[in-house]
Amino acid sequence: MKYLIWANFKMYKNQSELKTYFDTFVQNYHCFTNIDLTIAPMTVCLSTASELTKNSCIHLGAQNMYYEDQWAYTGETSPVTLKELGCEYVIIGHSERRKLFAEEDSTINKKLQSAIKHGIRPILCVGESSEEKDLWLSKENITIQLRKALKGIDSNLVDIAYEPIWAIGTGQTPTPEEINEMHHHIRQTINNNESRIIYGGSVNDTNAESIITQAEVNGFLIGGASLDAQKFLTIINIVANQQK
Ligand code: PGA
Repeated sequence: MKYLIWANFKMYKNQSELKTYFDTFVQNYHCFTNIDLTIAPMTVCLSTASELTKNSCIHLGAQNMYYEDQWAYTGETSPVTLKELGCEYVIIGHSERRKLFAEEDSTINKKLQSAIKHGIRPILCVGESSEEKDLWLSKENITIQLRKALKGIDSNLVDIAYEPIWAIGTGQTPTPEEINEMHHHIRQTINNNESRIIYGGSVNDTNAESIITQAEVNGFLIGGASLDAQKFLTIINIVANQQK
């Protein structure tokens, strides 16, 4: 199984910053046969990113999409257009979308189905809040998120990102062993060997090695640390040196 590494740029890097980034990144990134590397810029920058990564082994990803192909949905992005732009992957159900944009499990389910229909591989994000963690409800909550989101879907066609909400952008992470245990739980719940289960939440160049060496971790979803091309390259090299 190839590792999956995602750079989630969120709402950072405008067109010119993206060009500067790729100038450094594309020159220094050597394709690794054990890694699928995906960069997800802001939706409005996808066209520029597509141009900048042309002829490279870098995959293009989207941070979100709508589930309909077209209609009167002001402000939404069609999966058809993402496909046209060369997007091979899309993140669905990131906790920021669930919390700040009121995205529900039923919507996430429709988005997953639509992405699969259009040949875009979705990465479903799941994770517990700090309150759920304190109440020892993490596993239960993640089981519910997975069941609802994947209802009627062949889970082989979806990768999963485990992102504890309290770890995103905070500098805090579960211990590597806790991450491994949760990934094991997710693997048992989805009951397939095809999906990659990747970890996200304050991954950086100092903690990456201790996490990726865990048996059940198949890659990373990286926000903040992916914005610095050099730091991101360091993390990629750490993953490239692993053999599982
Ligand atoms: P972070 O973000 O790496 O900045 O914690 C992860 C994410 O939200 O995708």
